Formats: sequence, C-alpha cells, structure tokens
Amino acid sequence: MLRQEKVDFARRAAADGMVLLKNENATLPISKDKKIALFGVASYQCFKLGWGSGDMLAQRIIQTNEALVDAGYTIEEQSDAINKAWIEEHATEYQRVNRNWAEWTFRFNEIEMPTNIIESSAKEADVAIVSVGRCSGEADDLKNEEGFYKLHADETSLIKRVSACFEHVVLVLNTCGPLDLRSVENCKIDSILYASMGGEQFGNAVADIVSGKVSPSGKLTTTWAKKYEDYPTCEGIDTIVVPYNEGIYVGYRYFDTFNVEPMYPFGYGLSYTTFEIEPYDFILDGPLVNFVTKVTNTGKMPGKEVVECYLSSPDGKMEKAYQDLCAYSKTDIINPGESEEVVISFDLTDMASYDEEAAAYVLEKGDYIVRCGNSSRNTKVAFVIRVSKDVLCTQVSNRFKQDDVELKLISKKGIASISYPNEKAEIENAKILDLDITSIEPTVCDKYEDTPDELIEATSNDKLYTLEDVWNGKASVEDVVAQFSNEELAMILNGVIYDSADANANVGSMAIKVRGAAGELWTSDKYKIPTNACADGPGGIRLSIFGTPEESDTDVCHEMVAYPSGTCFANTWDCSIAYKFGACICDDLEVSNIEGWLAPGINIHRNPLNGRNFEYMSEDPLIAGNTGAYITFGVQYDEDTRPTGRYVAIKHFACNNIEYERGITNSVVSERALREIYLKAFKIAVTTSGALTVMTAYNKINGQFASTSFDLLNGVLRGEWGFDGVVMTDWNPCSNSKEHSYAGNDLIMPGCHKKDILEGLEDGSVSKASVQKCAARILTLILRSNYVINDR
Ligand code: BGC
Repeated sequence: MLRQEKVDFARRAAADGMVLLKNENATLPISKDKKIALFGVASYQCFKLGWGSGDMLAQRIIQTNEALVDAGYTIEEQSDAINKAWIEEHATEYQRVNRNWAEWTFRFNEIEMPTNIIESSAKEADVAIVSVGRCSGEADDLKNEEGFYKLHADETSLIKRVSACFEHVVLVLNTCGPLDLRSVENCKIDSILYASMGGEQFGNAVADIVSGKVSPSGKLTTTWAKKYEDYPTCEGIDTIVVPYNEGIYVGYRYFDTFNVEPMYPFGYGLSYTTFEIEPYDFILDGPLVNFVTKVTNTGKMPGKEVVECYLSSPDGKMEKAYQDLCAYSKTDIINPGESEEVVISFDLTDMASYDEEAAAYVLEKGDYIVRCGNSSRNTKVAFVIRVSKDVLCTQVSNRFKQDDVELKLISKKGIASISYPNEKAEIENAKILDLDITSIEPTVCDKYEDTPDELIEATSNDKLYTLEDVWNGKASVEDVVAQFSNEELAMILNGVIYDSADANANVGSMAIKVRGAAGELWTSDKYKIPTNACADGPGGIRLSIFGTPEESDTDVCHEMVAYPSGTCFANTWDCSIAYKFGACICDDLEVSNIEGWLAPGINIHRNPLNGRNFEYMSEDPLIAGNTGAYITFGVQYDEDTRPTGRYVAIKHFACNNIEYERGITNSVVSERALREIYLKAFKIAVTTSGALTVMTAYNKINGQFASTSFDLLNGVLRGEWGFDGVVMTDWNPCSNSKEHSYAGNDLIMPGCHKKDILEGLEDGSVSKASVQKCAARILTLILRSNYVINDR
C-alpha cells in the first residue's frame, strides 16, 4: 500500500467517526462563500491522539485552519484575530513534549489562546468556529474540574464572547471523550461537532464535515451525561479498591433503566439528511434472530445511517437493564429518496444473562422486545420474541468471588425506567415470535481443569531439534521445548530488552531489532528462533523517539501513519472501516519490519475521567468487541483470509478502567457484571477474530492480579473461550513473576524478570511443566508469525 492510500483512509475514518451533536439553523455545512472566523487553540494545534503508548509521532499533522483554507474557505484575517507568535511557541512546545515520555502529563488544557479582536472580526465573518481541545493519556486521569472534564474558565469566556457577537457559532470538540458543557449551556451555539481525536488527518476530516463533502454519520458509543455526578460510577475511582457498585448498569444501561436524562444519549448522532428505518421480515431460526430493515433517505443530502437494535429482556430472578444493544449495521451512502435494505442478525443466546446462583448463562422466560432505531433514545418496537420457560444456554463455573470487599449493588426496584408515549401500544401490537426452546442445547463450557501440567521429557537421541524442524514437520514444538535448559526457559518466558544501561530506553521503546518499538521476544540462532518485535498502538505503529535523532528519528518512523483514536473508530459503527484499519496496520507492520501490534485496546468506558478512554472503544461490550474483532481480522488475515503472520495483542484483559495507581488497584466487580460487560467485549473480540495474543491488565480483579489469575486466563480465556494463543503481561507488572506461568500468562514483558523465573525453576517454586507449556505457546506464536511471514 502506498502511504498516501493509508493517509486517505485515515482521513475518511476520522470524518466518519465524528459525531454531530447539534445543528440548528442548518449552520453546518458551511457554504464556501461564507467567511469563517476561527477561535480556540485547537483550531491551530489539535490533539491528534492522547499521550503515552497510545500516542504516535506524526510527520505532519493537518490542522483545522490550514485544512479549511485548502478546502477553499476564506478565514477571517488570522494575524488580527489571534496571536500568531503565541501559536508558534505553543506548537513547538507541543512537539517537544510529544516526544518526551517523562512529560506525558503535560497538557494544554489550561491554556486558551489570547484573542483580542473577537468583536471586530464578527463584523467581517459570517460564522465562528470555536475549537476546544482536551487531552488525556496513560498513567493519569482527568479530574472533574475546570480545564479537565469541565471547561476551563478561559474556554468558557471565549465561547461566551464569541457567541455573544456572532450570528452563527460552531463548537468543535477535539476531545478525548465527553466534557461537561454546562458553563456554556446558555450560549447561542448553533452546532456542536464531537470531532474526538482524529489522528494526523484531523484538520482535513473537520474540513470535510464543515464543507459537507462528508455528511456526518458517527454515533456516540458512550453516553454524554449532563454532569459527572450523573454517572453511576462517579465515586471511588481514585482509591486503591474500586467497587463496581453499579453492577450491570454501565453507561446507557444505567441512564435508561434509572431514567436519568443524558446530555446526549448512547448511539446518538445527527446527519445532514434524515432517515426512516422500517424493520420487516422477522425470522427466528432456533435462537438465531434475522430480519431486514429498509432504510430510506428522507432528506435532501446523501448520507449514511446506522441501524441500531436493542433488546429489552424480561425481569425474572435477575434484574435486567431497560435495553442492551444486540446488533447494528451501517448503510452505504444513500441518496435522497432512495433506500437500502439492511439485514440484521444476532443470536439470542448471546444476550442471555449470567445467573450467579446457577453459574450459567440463562434466558429467563418472558417477552424479549426487539427495538430498532438510530439512537438508544430513538427506537420503535420491531417485534417480540417469546420465551416460554427459562432456558439454560451455557453452564460454566463461578470463578470470581469477591472475598474481602462487600459490593453495594444498585437495584432498579421501585424505579420507573424511561418510556415514550406510544411504547405500550407498540409492544401490544408487535408481532410475536415464539422461541423453540428445544433448539437450544445447553453447553457445558468449562474445559480447563486445575490439574498439574505434565513435564515434557527430552527424547534420548542427540539430535538437536530446531523451530525450523517443527515448521518442516520433522519435530513438534514440545521436542524443541524439551531441550531447553532452565536458563533458556527463563529467557523465552521473558522479553528481551534493549541494553538496560541505556537511560534513554524506556517503557514502550525496548526493542533491539527495530529501535523505538516497544519490545521483542527471545531470539536463538541455535534453535532457529528469529527475532519477533512488537510495537504499540492503537493509534498506529508507535515507534518512539529516544536517544539521538540519527539513532531513532528514522525515515521508517515517519513513514508510519497516525490514525484516529480507538473511540473515533468505534464512533463510526462501521465494521468495514475497522477491518480496513487493520489492513493498513498490517501494511505498516510490514514496512517497519515488526511482527506484533500491542492493540486494539477494548476496555470498557466505565467512567469518563479514565485517561486512556480515547484508546478504547465504548461503554458497550458489543461495539467494543466487534470493533476490536474486525481490526484484528484486518491485521491477521489478508483479503483471501490467509494469515499474514502479523498479530495483535488485544488489551488490557481486564477491568483496567481507570489509570489511578493502575499497577495495584483492585477492581471489585460482581461475577455477573464482569461476564456481561467487562469480559464480554474480550470474548467477542477473541473468539470471532482468532487473535494470536492477549495482553493482561496491571490491576487486580476481586483481589487477584489479572496477570496471575488462573481463573481469568486458564479458566475463562482458554477454558471457556478456547483461546490457544499467547498471553503476555503489560510492561513491568507488579504481580509476582513466579505466578504467571501457572496462571497461563506465557510471556512477561518487557524482559526484566528472568532471574525470578530461573530462581523459581531451580528451587521448585515455579513449575517446570507450566513454564514448558508457556514456552511451547511462545514458539507456536513465532511459527504462526515469523515463519508464516517468511513463507508468504
Ligand atoms: C501500557 C501498554 C503498552 C506497554 C508497552 C504500558 O505502559 O499500559 O498499553 O502496550 O506499556 O509500551
């Protein structure tokens, strides 16, 4: 692929991920004969991504001001409207900080550019665009304060001044996620575009929306509350023990069930045109639900629409949320007056609730209402599925008891959920389909017994088996592993780090083969184990700059593309865009000679202050899981579904939903919420995409480090979901390195714990059989990666 093709794609994806929140008086799009006055530092210096391992170096970031000029607009005399010298200084500082991990947390949130002639420029220009930028990143969270989740006083004052004297005002939010906009709620703002973080093509994507070249089609994947306190997770996020008292009521599941009015609901997003969605042809094939919707463009401009389907499950022994997203699909561009048929399918058993008493996924008896629309708060009842008695779908074991910390789970008892005027009548008149309960065979899905691994003994002959022999069918990986000394086993279980004496080598830039990449696996000439390197994402292939420019500020570094954020991709609700993104990443991996990509990140947006939310997809597990799955598929398979040999590490498994003290926090969560929300995203991504690796989270879950949790890794990931790839730790975990292999965590990254493993093997505190099993899986990864690449 040419770089330009990937850049064009990044621009298209960024525009498709932007969400139009408000558009009064048809202020957007703006015709080219209108003069625009541009305000706000983010109009001149955007946040392409947040900071930390999710950031990217970008050769050239397209800013909104230049993109609008390029698009043919006249921008009101900038030298008067803004302080140019200040912007230049600001840009230089941004570049410097961007390259320096030690200054990650530097943010530009507290600075608003000086403007002196707002009032006079209002006489010259027809429309004002004010951009607000908000950055966040790894190892730090936002605060519910001005300059963070709330607008800074300077931003509020700028918006107030601009809206007082301009006839038309557009607010562009170049933010890591939702903000509290109450300080400007009385301002006359016609249009609000949630542009999120659009990567290096940010400005062009904004210009495409502003000009109408692209009609907005992004939808929120996370609820925007009116105020922080409206989120059920607003308390206890800056403590070591984080109780998930909201249980299953995360995001819209809470807002809808507890009837809390959001500022903008989940699934919401406007277009420049309007659509009508009519569902018909409902078929139930066992638990498989299929139907068609006819989407008609009833407006005046071409555009795309998302068909969103929600399921309201009946209360039984278990409380249910008002609705859960069960399927969605995005149309192609539909011209005015034309229609497209969209086929929707989902498996009802995937929507079963987790019954902790039965340790099983159960469809409780009652009526399941299928709703269809273009936002969680704009749906109509499509039909009803009747389940005549409780159906046990999957039997597992409870694995995540909270021992020490008592949860105070919220309950919807006595609270009326949302409703709308015709809802009752719609339900009464809806077509009812009876589920044939005999079509559901209960499955027992609990294959991983806690039995000791068996030691692999070396065969007595003197032949040396190499990985090449395995590739050529002359030996098995076990034959190779059996020959490893304790020292070699300790080596292969750890990454290899760049000369630790080099003070410039830092987390995220430990690889030797490709400088600036995050890490690499053990290499051996003797066993023909080639070098296998991995680099961060999810914004692209992150090659960090360190040392001297000659050393690492290389052409390859600049060849990499900075794509939009994870949230921006998810906001497209478009699986084909996610797949294409994966294909672009695969190409970037090839260009940079790297095998593995430490992304996508699919942790749930549990709380809007989480510093890494921009990397993640959604508050909903279906969107998060699907987006992650399609990206993975694009990286790992080519158009003919042949393995590419490049691989992803789906991260951070699981419940790394806040950055505060992320190395040691304890996410205390009910088994039901864990399975229905937090693990479900990973289950979808891992089981549907064939991901080759998974990265564990730093935090604990119910008192046990995720990285050393047998139940999480061997129990659920491998045993229940059938994952047969490599599990790796996040970089330098706080968990006890001697416990990883037993739990099923194969690889300790980036490579600082060899001594512990060796010591454990020698004194017997680490099981050699478990270590061998991990080593075999790492070798299998190298076969599936390097050897496949060489063979292509
Ligand atoms: C981050 C990971 C990242 C790793 C390697 C850690 O600090 O949490 O997401 O992949 O560093 O850079």
